[in-house]
Amino acid sequence: MKNIYSNILKFNNSNLKKIVKYLKKGGLVGIPTETVYGLAGNAYSDTTVKKIYQIKKRPSKNPLIIHYYSLAELEKDAILNKIFFKLYKKFCPGPITFVLRKKHFSNISVHASSKLKTIAVRFPDHFIIKKILKKIPFPLAIPSANKSGGVSPTSPIDVADEFKKKLKFIINGGSCKIGLESTVVDLTGKLKILRPGYISGKKIGQVIHVKVKLNKNSKKIKSPGMLKKHYSPDIPMKLNQKKSGKDNAFITFGKNYKKTRHTFNLSKKSNLNEAAKNLYKTFRKIKKMKYKKISVVKIPNRGIGIAINDRLKHAAR
Ligand code: TXA
Ligand code: MG
Repeated sequence: MKNIYSNILKFNNSNLKKIVKYLKKGGLVGIPTETVYGLAGNAYSDTTVKKIYQIKKRPSKNPLIIHYYSLAELEKDAILNKIFFKLYKKFCPGPITFVLRKKHFSNISVHASSKLKTIAVRFPDHFIIKKILKKIPFPLAIPSANKSGGVSPTSPIDVADEFKKKLKFIINGGSCKIGLESTVVDLTGKLKILRPGYISGKKIGQVIHVKVKLNKNSKKIKSPGMLKKHYSPDIPMKLNQKKSGKDNAFITFGKNYKKTRHTFNLSKKSNLNEAAKNLYKTFRKIKKMKYKKISVVKIPNRGIGIAINDRLKHAAR
């Protein structure tokens, strides 16, 4: 039988050269970050960026995050402000994305930022992606490496399962340390958190000395019928359940739930970081086991628990 995972590459110097060459030619690569695996391509190239949208089946209106190695590089593309520098100093490289005003003469493909006047940027913290970024003369546009609307991948096998052999290379960087996507903060006006993540509003507030709230608008349901699911294993899901229906997959947290063959405990020790790391892995496992329904217990809404609950809410819509 043909090895369906043969496009997963071990990370070493000769493969690093191969990857760099391939990215320079306009190729797309499955790449590990500290949050989730991404699908990386040259952010300056219209053709490459269009390929990202195509392979992910991503609506062109949903802009991409541009990943950088150095501030000097970012300065060519975005207008930086005081708050940005404070947060950069504290958290970067790390799991935080900033939405900034785009510079008029930026070389970033207009498709990557969906023709907006803003751009989302991030400095990822994983030794593999840092080595790659250091060796290429352009930043990388990197969405999570999953089909649009689905569950983000947290291992190279997940990426291969998403795109099969459509990707020539997926770099093996093991399991992602965090397991949920970066916190997205809008710095183009009054600071807003557009997507919660490992770096909480509380931690951000401590750096800039204001109380930060989650953006209310992003939670607003404009037209329920038009709501698109996100981060979703595409299985009906009920949240805040005390017990599970018969034959449902039951996602639990902590020690208070009886273990059965249908329970999937995110963290027996009630550790929210561990739960975050296990969430998408668990969704994928449950999907592979062909469950028809999922029940989830209540997850504490503090720290990264806020991000877990945000993803659960989107997945359950
Ligand atoms: O952790 C992460 O951020 C991962 C890894 C691979 O870096 N990437 C990721 O990318 O989650 P993606 O494409 O799956 O999510 C990007 C999010 C989307 O919600 C998108 O709408 C938002 O960032 N975004 C991008 N550009 C934006 C902009 N100019 N204004 C507001 N939101 C933006
Ligand atoms: Mg995504």
